[in-house]
Amino acid sequence: MVVDQETSKNVVTLYSKYMKKAIKLARTTNPFPNPRVGCLIFDENGKIISQAYHEMKGRDHAEIIAIRKAKEIKQDLSKCTLVTTLEPCTEFEGKCTKSCTAEIINSGIKTVVIGCIDPLEKIRGIEYLKSKNINVVQEVMKHEASDLIKEYAVFIKYKRPFIALKCGISIDGKLATDNGVSKWINSQSMREYSNSLRGLFDSILVGINTLLNDDPLLTQRYGNIIKQPDCIVVDSSLKTPCNAKIFSEKRRRIFIITDKNNKVQKLDRINELEENNAIMIYTDKIYDKHTNGYVLDLKPALQILASDFNVSSVAVEGGSQIHSYFLQNNLFDELYVYIAGKIIGGTKYRLCNYPICLDALTNCLKLKLKRIKKIDDDVLLLYQNVH
Ligand SMILES: NC(=O)c1ccc[n+]([C@@H]2O[C@H](COP(=O)([O-])OP(=O)(O)OC[C@H]3O[C@@H](n4cnc5c(N)ncnc54)[C@H](OP(=O)(O)O)[C@@H]3O)[C@@H](O)[C@H]2O)c1
Ligand SMILES: [Zn+2]
Repeated sequence: MVVDQETSKNVVTLYSKYMKKAIKLARTTNPFPNPRVGCLIFDENGKIISQAYHEMKGRDHAEIIAIRKAKEIKQDLSKCTLVTTLEPCTEFEGKCTKSCTAEIINSGIKTVVIGCIDPLEKIRGIEYLKSKNINVVQEVMKHEASDLIKEYAVFIKYKRPFIALKCGISIDGKLATDNGVSKWINSQSMREYSNSLRGLFDSILVGINTLLNDDPLLTQRYGNIIKQPDCIVVDSSLKTPCNAKIFSEKRRRIFIITDKNNKVQKLDRINELEENNAIMIYTDKIYDKHTNGYVLDLKPALQILASDFNVSSVAVEGGSQIHSYFLQNNLFDELYVYIAGKIIGGTKYRLCNYPICLDALTNCLKLKLKRIKKIDDDVLLLYQNVH
């Protein structure tokens, strides 16, 4: 009994070691709207004979490439194990690439180790493999494997990008002084760290007041820079100036979410912004009872960014009205709060200006703490929205 437990513990450790490698492979690229997937095959001696990742929609899935590469090295794969970060796909209507489960069965592989289950309900890979007598070990490093596909999972469920709200606040929850000064709430080291995390996102979104008040560059300048995130400005009446600093970085797209009516009413302004390579995303204005005014309906605009422009994730960087809108509408998946050891006081520019719940705390937004990081007198709290 003791020996059995020990053996199974060793096997789990071994599978986790290979899964870690597969996860690293999956991180090579972001094939959104498809999921990131990494796959490897090891032989009876534990030697990795092939590895692959899914590059982009329309191209072969990681499992297909890994099997093809393995066959070039070894004829008989029956004693090999395939490790994949995501449940392998089955045939379904509208699918344009080969099914991975069929390919696995044809290859003769008898053991498949899987990281996480595909959130797309029509994928029933695990069931299918088991029905064909394949030994399936599932949910190895489940959390890490699920994290790989978080943009894909959000897109399947809500047809929008993954959304993280990011804000630097004082202990009393203020984003700026009542005069609108926010430079700088957090310490230099925390700001550098926060800037390095921009690399985790496809795009950064700000409200027009933040753009006009702060004129930010919205680029990544610290950490491992692979590509500059796209920029999204929320601007109903097209006040974005063409000499704003965001236009100085050319290696990215700039989207302006604006009122549909501007197509007719502000054609000259649109032409001017488009000449500066800005891309317009049109949406309706909707009534907002808290401000007793009209604001842009951001949900459909974000859906367009995901479906038509492949924007997989958005870091929302303020200001106060923008954060209030996203919080109020429960339109986010993560919240990064950078709390500085400062008390600002006053009543304006709070993290959330509007009441989310009034009478009972049972109605408030409840978040799950994922991470804490301390730098100087500042603390980063990373929360996950449980929706
Ligand atoms: N500490 C931090 O992390 C941080 C980060 C960013 C900014 N800030 C500070 O925050 C201040 C600016 O905040 P703010 O609240 O005045 O402005 P904001 O959130 O940057 O922009 C709000 C504006 O966006 C437009 N908008 C259009 N649709 C909207 C919608 N659905 N929801 C919300 N806004 C919408 C509206 O202007 P139109 O009607 O003209 O479209 C609205 O007035 C600045 O002082 C800045 O320094 C602090
Ligand atoms: Zn597949």
